[in-house]
Amino acid sequence: MDKNGNPFPPRFLELKREIASSFPDFEARLTQAWKEVIEELTTFSERVSQAGTDYIPQTNYRDLEKLSTEEIDVIKRRGCVVIRDIVDDEKAIAWRESLREFIKANPGVEGIPEDDKQFFQLYWTKAQVQARADPDLLKAIIWLNYLYHDKTKKKSENVDLSVPLTYADRFRIRKAGVTWGVHPPHIDGGSIERWEDPAFRKCFEDILSGQWRQHDAYDLQGRLDARSSLYGRPGQATVFRTFQGWLSMSETGPSQGTLKVFPDVLLSNAYIILRPFFKPLVPIESPDILDPKNWALNLETAEFPGIWGRDGGWAGPHPTPTSHPHLFLDKTMTSVPKVKPGDGVFWHCDVIHSVEEEHTGNEDSAVMYIPAVPFTDKNADYVRRQKECFLKGERPPDFPKGEAEAAFIGIATANDIDNDLGRKAMGLQAITVA
Ligand SMILES: [Fe+2]
Repeated sequence: MDKNGNPFPPRFLELKREIASSFPDFEARLTQAWKEVIEELTTFSERVSQAGTDYIPQTNYRDLEKLSTEEIDVIKRRGCVVIRDIVDDEKAIAWRESLREFIKANPGVEGIPEDDKQFFQLYWTKAQVQARADPDLLKAIIWLNYLYHDKTKKKSENVDLSVPLTYADRFRIRKAGVTWGVHPPHIDGGSIERWEDPAFRKCFEDILSGQWRQHDAYDLQGRLDARSSLYGRPGQATVFRTFQGWLSMSETGPSQGTLKVFPDVLLSNAYIILRPFFKPLVPIESPDILDPKNWALNLETAEFPGIWGRDGGWAGPHPTPTSHPHLFLDKTMTSVPKVKPGDGVFWHCDVIHSVEEEHTGNEDSAVMYIPAVPFTDKNADYVRRQKECFLKGERPPDFPKGEAEAAFIGIATANDIDNDLGRKAMGLQAITVA
C-alpha cells in the first residue's frame, strides 16, 4: 500500500525481481551493502547534527575558480553549496521589488495561500527572465555543471557542459510568521522512474550491484538518457538539472523559512535506492528497527516506500522517519546558512531537501527558483518548446496548466534579455556546441 492506501501495482514486484535477477549474487551483496550503509548513516547522523549549518559548504562567486580539489570534493559529497554574491545585493533587491510591483499591478495572479499569496504561478515576469539570463548567474551554473563528468571520457555530441540552458520555474515571497507544511523532505526529478527507467537505473547500478561506495552521482552516463517523467505527471521535471537551486532576494537564515538538505548525496542515494528491496522484521516503532539484522531482503511485495500515486503518475521519493528510519531525518536535515540578497543555494538533483515549516524572522524570505541545466539534446528540445511558451506568454511545458501570463501587465519579452549567453540559454539565439 502507498500512503494513500492504494496498493502498488503487481508489476512493481516484477520490476524488483527483474532488477534482482540482473545483478549476480544479489541477496548476499545487497544485504552486506544494506548493513554497511546503515552503519555509515548512523555515524553520519551524529556528525552532521553536531556540526549543524556549518556542515553546508559555502563559497563566494569570485572564488569558484580558486577552490582546491579537496574543497570541490567536499561540495560534491555533500551535494549542496551556498555561492555568495553571484549578483549584487542591489540588483537582487530590485528584482524582488519589481516582483512585488508586478503582483500589485496584477492582483488576479494565481498563488498560494489564496487569501495571502506568497508562492506564485508566474514564470515570465521581467525580474525572472532577467535573473535567469544574468551572465554571472549563468557562469555560476556553468561551474556547477562542470562538477559532472563522463567517466568513460568519451566526447559526447549530446552534451556540452559549457553551455547553460534556462529552465523557467517560479518564485516565492514568503512572509514571516506564516507556517508552511507543504515541502517535507523529498527528492525531485524522477520518482519510480529511478528504478523503472533502465537508463535512469543505470545511474545507480553500483548501488544495486552492492558496490555502493563506487556510486558516482556526478557521472553523466545514464543521466543523459534517463527519463525522469515516464507518466507525464504535471510538475515532474522532464529535463536533466545537474543542481536545483534558488537565488535569494532577501536576508534569510535558519528558522526563517529556508531550505534544509540531507548533506551526503552518496549515503542518501545508496539508502534510498536499496530501501525497496528490504523489509523490517520487527514493528516499525520498535527501537530494534535500527539494527540492520532486523531487516531482510524483500522480493515478495510490490512496496516502494516513500513513493505514491499522483495525477496518473508517481510522486516521491518522500522519505519519512517511518518509511526510512536510518536516514535519521530529525537529526540530518540541515538548514542552509544565512543568505543575503544575490546569494545562490544549489543542491544536486538527487539530494533530499525540504523547506522549514517555521518562519520566525521579521522579513519576507524571497527566492527565485533557478536550477543548473546544461546543454543536452533532450534539454535543448525542452528549451525549444519552452521558448514557444515564453513568446506566447504561456506557462512552460512541465508545469501545471493554467491561466496564461500574456494578459498581465509588465510581462517580459525577448527584448528584456540583453546578452548573448542569456539569449542562447533561452534558445533565442543559435548555440554552437563546442
Ligand atoms: Fe523540491
